[in-house]
Amino acid sequence: MNFPVTRLRRLRYNSVLRDMVSETSLSANDFVMPLFVCSGTGVSNPIHSMPGNYQLSVDLLVEECKKVVASGVRSVLLFGIPPHKDEDGSVACEHNGIVQQAIRAIKQDPATKDLYVIADVCNCEYTVHGHCGTIVDGDVENDLTLVTLGKQSVSLAEAGADMIAPSDMMDGRVGFIREELDKHGFYKTPIMAYSAKYASGFYGPFREAAESAPKFGNRATYQMNPANTNEAVREVELDIMEGADIVMVKPALSYLDVIHRVKQEFGMPVAAYNVSGEFSMVKAAEANGWIDGPRVMMEILTSIKRAGADIIITYHAMEAAEILKNRR
Ligand code: PBG
Repeated sequence: MNFPVTRLRRLRYNSVLRDMVSETSLSANDFVMPLFVCSGTGVSNPIHSMPGNYQLSVDLLVEECKKVVASGVRSVLLFGIPPHKDEDGSVACEHNGIVQQAIRAIKQDPATKDLYVIADVCNCEYTVHGHCGTIVDGDVENDLTLVTLGKQSVSLAEAGADMIAPSDMMDGRVGFIREELDKHGFYKTPIMAYSAKYASGFYGPFREAAESAPKFGNRATYQMNPANTNEAVREVELDIMEGADIVMVKPALSYLDVIHRVKQEFGMPVAAYNVSGEFSMVKAAEANGWIDGPRVMMEILTSIKRAGADIIITYHAMEAAEILKNRR
């Protein structure tokens, strides 16, 4: 049937009905809030390019986690800024590493112990050169890097991490980490793999936040070319075969097609990382009065969910959860 019998606007005149036929809905359950932990006590360094985000020492990180809980968000993703760095990221594997301390503190406080704590696994915040692994002949050496990634993962699981999320893009790391976790008895700890992680300009603000910008070159020999999607499917497929429980596409907004394709092809739980640059663009435009920030935020998050993401890692998590509370 065509017009005038069919009128698609009929379902749009009433807001109750609009909500009834809404195809996508966001929930605080979908969100993961990324947080940055640094050494010291009472430290709260604002991250200028990411308004509302801070490098927090462990004590204040726990306070921030209480706010996360109050917002209704139930999971955090932790990144560490260690007091000193080294050549191969061994500092990330120490029993008293910065993220290890943070996890123990969160798990010890009755107000935050039920937060689901995901630990990012990568070397770039821990190496003096800022690359995601061990450098040999001017490039990141894949197989040597696996060894530190495995150690870091086990150490974070020992500290109480609920989930391990490798973001380094080394070949074979999911399988290697799975084996190391299992060997140490952590067979219940899931792996969320940053499977299709692109070499992206959208990570700029994060590198200020995590002090992890590479000191030479770039990440193009390990992160993916933004032009590719068949390759993303191969990356995801390999990670699934190596034992990934959740696969991730990152960034989110410029890669909605990749999120959609990965969900369609594999039907796996898919995470999308709404990265720092995507957040900062919204905040900057909002601060200039150029856009309605909260509205654009909700539209972006909805689009990521609509594309096929089950989990959205986003710096907007708490703000969006507060808005959802006030919606019916
Ligand atoms: C570490 C890592 C990065 C991000 C998450 N984990 C940065 C990078 O690869 O340089 C980016 C997150 C963001 O931009 O919000 N490898």
